Amino acid sequence: MVYILGIESSCDDTAAAITGDTKILANIIANQEVHKNFGGVVPEWASRAHQQNIIPVVETAIRQANINKNEITAIAFTRGPGLLGSLLVGTSFAKAFALGLGIPLIEVDHMQAHVLAHFIQKGPNTKKLPSFPFLCLTVSGGHSQIVLVKDYFEMEVIGRTIDDAAGEAFDKAAKIMGLPYPGGPVIDQLAKEGNHLAYTFAVPNIKDLDYSFSGLKTSFLYFLRDQLKLDSSFIEKNKADLSASIQHAIVTSLIKKVKFAAKQTGIREIAVSGGVSANSYLQKKLTEAGTEENWNVYIPEFSFTTDNAGMIAVAGYFKYCKGEFAKQDAVPYSRSH
Ligand code: KG4
Ligand code: ZN
Repeated sequence: MVYILGIESSCDDTAAAITGDTKILANIIANQEVHKNFGGVVPEWASRAHQQNIIPVVETAIRQANINKNEITAIAFTRGPGLLGSLLVGTSFAKAFALGLGIPLIEVDHMQAHVLAHFIQKGPNTKKLPSFPFLCLTVSGGHSQIVLVKDYFEMEVIGRTIDDAAGEAFDKAAKIMGLPYPGGPVIDQLAKEGNHLAYTFAVPNIKDLDYSFSGLKTSFLYFLRDQLKLDSSFIEKNKADLSASIQHAIVTSLIKKVKFAAKQTGIREIAVSGGVSANSYLQKKLTEAGTEENWNVYIPEFSFTTDNAGMIAVAGYFKYCKGEFAKQDAVPYSRSH
């Protein structure tokens, strides 16, 4: 059995996980409450919180996996993309621990790991896995991509956002409504009680497989500004309908391009990953599209949608199998390359 300790600290979640081959044995996350009322992540606070959380999170993961630290085969860490100060904490910890234990170090790209989250096994190996090549709609707070996945590490981004990411669109819409950060899950919940046809918000149509969400945010902002002039409690009264309508606009735009991509490539293996893949309406609409279009649709289990270290550990496992190791002088990178 190959035991990988995965470390994730690219944004505001400090996470550690242990896998035994592709099976998850522990998946621990310390969320940072400190950003809640600021409408976004405060990078300086994120780094400090990572520094406080990293050791307890790793200790808990090892304990929960019921292994001894000397049994760990290798340590995988997120090298990027993400906030540099945050990445430095996980990277430095992983290097020091690997050196101390005398075991190999493996660097993992956060976005590739979101895709590879589909290969994490939880129970007995009965889960149906996507087969290569597949398309993966990877939607998080920092990225919105359609990825053509040819093999574990052979991925081509065939569509991307030209401005805001889908998660960012959710978070900014929530902020405009005065809802806490991160806004995606809050909008998802509120939308369940609302009518998605109550208001129409158009998403600009960008060429090819690319996305754009910044115009949507602006039209939402101006619409609310005008309504608030007429009725100062407009948002409070219509929170559910507003959430359902903005969510409908974002999800419709996401699915439209996935349909284009499937047509263009002829691929019918369709996966979704990243924090926004936790969205219940996106999951529903993608499943419906799958039935219409005759796709096999793959949705990760909830705990592997938003940032987690299980995906880092499993990506580390596949790299370990290829013998791809990192050097002690590997430095984090903030942007995808
Ligand atoms: O993948 P992730 O945890 O972190 C990044 O790599 O960015 O994604 C976080 C994003 C946030 O923008 C958050 O609002 C969004 O995922 N998100 C959701 C939901 N859960 C998380 N968006 C919509 N509906 C959800 N249920
Ligand atoms: Zn992420």
